Amino acid sequence: MKIGILTSGGDCPGLNAVIRGAVLKGIAVHGQEFVGFRDGWRGVVEGDIIDIPRTLVRGIAKQGGTILGTSRTNPFENGGGPAVIKGHMDRLGIDAIIAIGGEGTLAAAKRLTDAGLRIVGVPKTIDNDLDATDYTFGFDTAVEIATEAIDRLRTTGESHHRCMIAEVMGRHVGWIALHSGMASGAHAILIPEQRVSIDQIAAWVKLAHDRGRAPLVVVAEGFALDTMGEAHSERGLDTFGRPRLGGIGERLAPEIEARTGIETRATVLGHIQRGGVPTAFDRVLATRLGMAAIDSVVEGRWGTMVSLNGTDIVHVGFDAALGRLKTVPQDRYDEARVLFG
Ligand code: F6P
Repeated sequence: MKIGILTSGGDCPGLNAVIRGAVLKGIAVHGQEFVGFRDGWRGVVEGDIIDIPRTLVRGIAKQGGTILGTSRTNPFENGGGPAVIKGHMDRLGIDAIIAIGGEGTLAAAKRLTDAGLRIVGVPKTIDNDLDATDYTFGFDTAVEIATEAIDRLRTTGESHHRCMIAEVMGRHVGWIALHSGMASGAHAILIPEQRVSIDQIAAWVKLAHDRGRAPLVVVAEGFALDTMGEAHSERGLDTFGRPRLGGIGERLAPEIEARTGIETRATVLGHIQRGGVPTAFDRVLATRLGMAAIDSVVEGRWGTMVSLNGTDIVHVGFDAALGRLKTVPQDRYDEARVLFG
């Protein structure tokens, strides 16, 4: 059996560990062959592949990015669609596809599976916003990177008696902000799920400052003040028509400064959170998911993805993962909020 693997959407630490886990198990246990589609769905739509022999996955569990490349290509556009893709699979002798990606990738995979293609999924996003899996690989690494960076911002904030704002990723949900903010002892954590007023943020900053602390605010890129209609976006749309986020920290800084009189600086961590080596936790999770994806293929579980349930890897339908975001529950925010100010 020949299996094609693709990585699609934003890159994420652990993608290579998934590929390695799948390839090693597939070769060792089932004698399967592997190819990789270059740059996500683009490679699928164009039939652009590379062979993945065992030697190609040597030592890559600790390597950031993806050896296959990625893109935000929509497989139903750019000359794609089920018939074209089926044609490429038949011509190239590919029996099944393992699609590693986030909500957009899995939604496309579902449509293609519904049209008769043999696809299984592996969920991926640093934002940890996919429902039907307890954690996604890449999230732990992003939180580690953000926490380390915020710790560094804190020492410079303390030296200059400034308020520091760290802007982290999190388009629809605030998991990275919540965890990195808690880990670094932030005086305010601002997430997309919770609208807050600028006066409340200024009050938290002032409280911390009055105790002799350098106030630290962690804000998710998707956060909006109670007076804002949408999340802050000033750089147009991506290829899926979604606003490119980023800049809410810079928007808040002068407002906080004006209300508190405390010099306030903002830093956007951006793609640093998605780059570099994955943590051990993410390497293990990603490897296990890759290996379990082979079971999905062998058992013919088309239209399902592997997922983490507690400490077990299970198989769930694409439907379970789509259409519902895993947001930060109210009690998790309330728990963190006790320590604000
Ligand atoms: O979905 C993961 C993510 O990192 C989001 O947090 C962020 O909004 C988006 O990807 C950024 O995407 P791009 O790298 O295409 O700008």
